[in-house]
Amino acid sequence: MMVMEFKAAILTTAVLAVLLCSPALAQKSPSVSLPPSTSPAPAPAPHYVDLAALLNVAGPFHTFLSYLQKTNVIETFQSQANNTDEGITIFVPKDSAFSALKKSTFSNLTGDQLKQLLLYHAFPYYYPLSTFRNLSALNPVNTFAGSPYTLNLTDDMGSISVQSMWSKPKISSSVYATEPVALYSIDKVLLPMQLFSKDPPLAPAPAPAPQSGASDLAPSPGGGKAGGNAKADSTSEAYRVGVSGLLATVAGCLMLMW
Ligand SMILES: *[C@@H]1O[C@H](CO)[C@@H](O)[C@H](O)[C@H]1NC(C)=O
Ligand SMILES: *[C@@H]1O[C@H](CO)[C@@H](O)[C@H](O)[C@H]1NC(C)=O
Ligand SMILES: *[C@@H]1O[C@H](CO)[C@@H](O)[C@H](O)[C@H]1NC(C)=O
Ligand SMILES: *[C@@H]1O[C@H](CO)[C@@H](O)[C@H](O)[C@H]1NC(C)=O
Repeated sequence: MMVMEFKAAILTTAVLAVLLCSPALAQKSPSVSLPPSTSPAPAPAPHYVDLAALLNVAGPFHTFLSYLQKTNVIETFQSQANNTDEGITIFVPKDSAFSALKKSTFSNLTGDQLKQLLLYHAFPYYYPLSTFRNLSALNPVNTFAGSPYTLNLTDDMGSISVQSMWSKPKISSSVYATEPVALYSIDKVLLPMQLFSKDPPLAPAPAPAPQSGASDLAPSPGGGKAGGNAKADSTSEAYRVGVSGLLATVAGCLMLMW
């Protein structure tokens, strides 16, 4: 059922994309994203990217977006994107990532802690995927939440992971990556030691999910290297990349229209 809805969503998105800007779509072809912009495009001036609009149309990222809005961290991010030369990189957990957490995870945090947790999902710099290999030599890397709140990055033959104390999601797709804004989708919430020192706030294993198949949720821990399931992986990877390419196109068009 999920899969059907997902497909329907993609279809809708595709139709939208075609309707909104068939010329742009024809030029771009939906495989833009992952190998980051081999296109030269020496963009003249950083352009305005409406983060809330982008998060709203891509994803689904509604849970993360609603926390950003509730805490006003969306303003902090938007202002960084609008007003600095450094730009911003945000790791956005999908809605499904939140169901892996204990119910009380967010309600147990104070307002300030919740803000820190959200800021922890960003770097106050624009980092295209091509820079992650070099960045990983600088581990641990400071986040927008400030100095003790760091992340480790790993780039294992182009498979990039973001490591917090209690979770290490892989970047599952590049939702948007044009200076000054990089937005990457991840399938787990990042959980820093500073906020969750004792235990990982993970819900007991979900178990059900009778027909998983294409589930993003379990990216074969530590596995899936070069050999075995490379083919299956790359198929669904290509699929995802295509989808996020479409989404980026839609978002781009929306922005052009404004
Ligand atoms: C960002 O720029 C847009 C367009 O100029 C503006 O409408 C918006 O208020 C700005 N937001 C922040 C937080 O600076
Ligand atoms: C939230 O607080 C309650 C009461 O202190 C505790 O039992 C629960 O484990 C906490 N939840 C998390 C995710 O830490
Ligand atoms: C990574 O670092 C090397 C060596 O310092 C440099 O030549 C290269 O341009 C860097 N790559 C990127 C994408 O920044
Ligand atoms: C991050 O990397 C640093 C340097 O390699 C290491 O000391 C630290 O333990 C790592 N942190 C995590 C959470 O893996």
